[in-house]
Amino acid sequence: MPVPKRPFLAMWLLAGIMLLMSPFRPAQAQIPEKFENLKVLPKHISRDSLIQVMRAFSLQLGVRCTYCHVAEPKPAGAPANAPEKLIFKSDDKIQKRKARFMLQMVAKLNDKILPDLPERHDPRIVMRCVTCHRGSPLPQALDAVLTDIIDHHGIDSAVARYKELREDMESGRYDFSEWSVNELARTLAGNGKADAAIAMLEMNQGYNPTSADIDFMLGGLYLSKGDKDKAIAHYRAAMTKRPADTRSKHKLDSLGVAAASG
Ligand code: HEC
Ligand code: HEC
Repeated sequence: MPVPKRPFLAMWLLAGIMLLMSPFRPAQAQIPEKFENLKVLPKHISRDSLIQVMRAFSLQLGVRCTYCHVAEPKPAGAPANAPEKLIFKSDDKIQKRKARFMLQMVAKLNDKILPDLPERHDPRIVMRCVTCHRGSPLPQALDAVLTDIIDHHGIDSAVARYKELREDMESGRYDFSEWSVNELARTLAGNGKADAAIAMLEMNQGYNPTSADIDFMLGGLYLSKGDKDKAIAHYRAAMTKRPADTRSKHKLDSLGVAAASG
């Protein structure tokens, strides 16, 4: 089998085939037979292959065609549910221009940069949109999403957003394991944001009530704030949840109190 000259693009076409059953089935009737404004994809790509690439984009970013392609203004008096007519060749939407940049970036990573990686994994790992995006148009991990919200809208908004995102856990966009929030709290605390760290941990405790690690971290944070009573309560809780937790025992010893109250 001849080695394709542009393995990255060949891979795309393959990936698309698996998406034939995807929910992002476009109104195919509108898609032209000939394409007029392809700058990265092969100019003479078949219509089927182009559609497969576009479906893959949509699925891997969790968006619809209209995220990147502009719609014609609807004629006056058209019903609200009238189908949108998209002008695919137009570059008016910034998202399309960004996607084109991304297409070039990913091709460069796969074809130029990664081949120089020493002792590459065999079989080699091919970068795709989904490798970073995982179903979101902005590829951000949960800690980055929450940090942004804490900085711009406050702690309560971040807690509310976490709850909201968690309801859509099935999408697999974010890591909702206990440690993703614990690590975020650690970073926040390291940046002098003890209140935000405490709020994140208390929220996380609601979902992970048996975690001794969360109590241990909360103990340290309350201690740093000078709230000795709460610190002791959390270290004791950690020991109840994990009796072998010598770290909490040491903390209680150094505070001069017993592991159990009373
Ligand atoms: C993430 C952004 C993005 C999404 C989502 C997307 N496209 Fe595209 N589309 C592009 C980019 C970028 C190009 C141009 C590629 C190039 O320059 O080689 C393009 C080109 C096209 C073209 C060729 C237009 C021409 O004449 O040059 C068609 C047709 C098209 N897309 C259809 C679709 C359909 C149908 C969907 C939904 C299933 C879709 N696209 C979803 C980014 C997107
Ligand atoms: C190596 C990781 C990576 C890969 C692979 C990747 N992207 Fe991105 N993409 C990013 C990052 C990071 C941003 C946000 C950049 C910024 O604005 O700070 C982004 C932003 C975008 C945006 C703009 C989103 C917005 O609303 O601002 C689009 C559209 C996009 N990517 C499309 C794609 C497509 C299509 C592919 C596959 C061809 C792809 N990306 C592959 C990392 C990646």
